[in-house]
Amino acid sequence: MNVFKDYYNNTVQLSFLDHPFSKNPKHVWVICKYKDKWLLTDHKERGIEFPGGKVESGETADQAAVREVMEETGATVKKLHYIGQYKVDGRYETVIKNVYFAEIKELIPQPTYYETKGPVLLKKIPANIKRKTNFSFIMKDAVLESCLLRIKKSYV
Ligand code: GTP
Repeated sequence: MNVFKDYYNNTVQLSFLDHPFSKNPKHVWVICKYKDKWLLTDHKERGIEFPGGKVESGETADQAAVREVMEETGATVKKLHYIGQYKVDGRYETVIKNVYFAEIKELIPQPTYYETKGPVLLKKIPANIKRKTNFSFIMKDAVLESCLLRIKKSYV
């Protein structure tokens, strides 16, 4: 279990075990790779981040992951791998998220990307991301670096 503070100084617990905090998490986050590039989205308020969001009622977390990737980037998922789960103890609420690695099949232009400006393809995630104002706060804590290490070891 990794424990650290996030960008807003909230405590985050990250684990690569099988659903350690909740069997039915309400949030998902999906680290996507399309060909040799990372696929992200540009959230209108938060900035560039990997796609994700809330699990809707009647939906599994895995289904939410596939839906959010399509809504926010227009991408279809070839293969979805569960990576781990993290829990953020916020000031007002606790958020539990499944993290996935998704291998993308194709990118289909969409009429809307909902609360985002759509897909962003990057050859590299910037090393100095914490200082980049165009990137989202959810990209600025140890969840990203730990999960990327794990993904690079196993899949890419
Ligand atoms: P909406 O209802 O979609 O507007 O979302 P919200 O702003 O109420 O946020 P949400 O319920 O998704 O999360 C509540 C709080 O948890 C946020 O304000 C953040 O402080 C924190 N949080 C949510 N997701 C993450 C994340 O991926 N990483 C970190 N570090 N904190 C998060």
